[in-house]
Amino acid sequence: MAPSGPGAALELRGIRKSFGEQAVLAELSLRVGAGEIVSLVGASGSGKSTLLSILIGALRAESGEIRFGGAAVEPAALGHDRPFAYMPQRDVLLPWRRILDNAGIGLEVAGMPRRIARARVGELFGPFGLAGTERRYPRQLSGGMRQRVSFLRTVVQGKPVLLLDEPFGALDAITRDELQRWLLEIWGAHGWSILLITHDIREAVRLSDRVLVLGAAQGRADQAACIVGEVAVTREIPRADGFLLDPRVPHLEAELHQVLARAAG
Ligand SMILES: Nc1ncnc2c1ncn2[C@@H]1O[C@H](COP(=O)(O)OP(=O)(O)OP(=O)(O)O)[C@@H](O)[C@H]1O
Ligand SMILES: [Mg+2]
Repeated sequence: MAPSGPGAALELRGIRKSFGEQAVLAELSLRVGAGEIVSLVGASGSGKSTLLSILIGALRAESGEIRFGGAAVEPAALGHDRPFAYMPQRDVLLPWRRILDNAGIGLEVAGMPRRIARARVGELFGPFGLAGTERRYPRQLSGGMRQRVSFLRTVVQGKPVLLLDEPFGALDAITRDELQRWLLEIWGAHGWSILLITHDIREAVRLSDRVLVLGAAQGRADQAACIVGEVAVTREIPRADGFLLDPRVPHLEAELHQVLARAAG
């Protein structure tokens, strides 16, 4: 069971959102416990990115409650000390800033002098496979490299909650594997609470404590979505070496596929 109440890093209750006539989210509730990694999977267009946009205050829900660390908040009203860092689905690097300064922009916006921000993020260029790109501009990087810069910019902010919208979507299999390992390693050290959107069932199983499935809410005429299923992943499964060899992994993947198929009707 997920921790509840004050133990929850993030909690949503009864979120509803429509765009004009189109109802997208219906009474959606979910919880990410302190130190948990929770993945959200669901069909394209089911409302995953919309949900994160509501969480960061870029969109407003028609109703419902958002809590970080147990306190109800209006995300749009939060300042630079907001408890989360967000990685959008599409990279939004600034074309006129060098990669080093793009990676450090979250720190600068929060008030850190550029020199210190550069030193802080510069140390991570090696581990992120970005060594040598510091002085380049975004247009000079591949899509996968830009995604790594965007991921680096998010995690370096030192926020307790990470909201990641398909962070590894554009990466090749080997880089994806490396960054997944890296994320698990530093997650262990930092104890972040993470809500991660992914299309990749294997990634969801590997990275998560729980995988939530977003799908059409029952008993409604429209396609508005809520959480329709959940699969828990035991921490007994090794997540780095040995993950693919663990016999529980294919069972969990099959279970998730089933829940997703049911959600799609
Ligand atoms: N700003 C907007 N104005 C109008 N409709 C929108 C807006 N943003 C999203 N939508 C619609 O809301 C629905 C959910 O979109 P959303 O981007 O949240 O889906 P998603 O689950 O993130 O999909 P994907 O997996 O493809 O990223 C879609 O039908 C989309 O067209
Ligand atoms: Mg999306």
